[in-house]
Amino acid sequence: MSIGIFDSGVGGLTVFKEISKEFPLADIYYLGDTARVPYGNKSKETIIRYSLECANYLYNLGIEVLIVACNTASSYALEILNANFDIPVIGVIKPGVELAVKSTRNGKIGVIGTQATVKSGSYRTEIEKKGNFIVYQKACPLFVPLVEEGLIDHKITELTVKEYLEDLVNKDIDTLILGCTHYPLLKNVIQKLYPHLNIIDSSKATAIYLKKKVITLGGTGERKIFITDESSSFEKLKNLVVGADIFLEKLELSKICTL
Ligand code: DGL
Repeated sequence: MSIGIFDSGVGGLTVFKEISKEFPLADIYYLGDTARVPYGNKSKETIIRYSLECANYLYNLGIEVLIVACNTASSYALEILNANFDIPVIGVIKPGVELAVKSTRNGKIGVIGTQATVKSGSYRTEIEKKGNFIVYQKACPLFVPLVEEGLIDHKITELTVKEYLEDLVNKDIDTLILGCTHYPLLKNVIQKLYPHLNIIDSSKATAIYLKKKVITLGGTGERKIFITDESSSFEKLKNLVVGADIFLEKLELSKICTL
């Protein structure tokens, strides 16, 4: 079996890592669109165009299932990707929501993500389909650069987490969805500050969701990570998240810009 995963950059490696654990024999190809990151502050049209281009590149490698690791792309492009490709396309929103609604005890769920994800209301819509839950959302734009800079366990990060999350926590949420690929890397800081919260990591939820959906197993266990531009922070974070033994392959952006 071969699985394609794309994200706007490095954050989706949290999804790559979890899927690699669940499917050790599958061939897994990851595309991080480092030349055009961030997607989180782009328009809907641009996010859709970039997503179609990333998907197309991976599809041409012969993948059998496509995972949209990027929450922003999952929020805007999932429907159009499903309409354009004849393989299953799975985003990170539904798996995260399924886990969150099972975890909450008081029905109050917080969602954090990029500006575009929050604006799309994608998490709110999915959660409200599941029943009578109260949803509070918050965009946390500074989290992405903090992670990119490797400030994962730093006092600046603690202060920023408090600044963004105090409001949500005061609203008595008991469950918090990390609705952005980068945020699982801040999970420990968030949990340390708010130990009572159930923190939902969409990357883990997506790997478990895929396991339930996919019945074919096997493959040669090949792993490839493609990027559309060189990035030293990508390399550092890649080594931190998935280890140094998987090499990066740089693609010419023109190879994926087909639209
Ligand atoms: N991958 C994006 C997401 O999960 C975060 C980074 C970006 O803005 O592109 O929403």
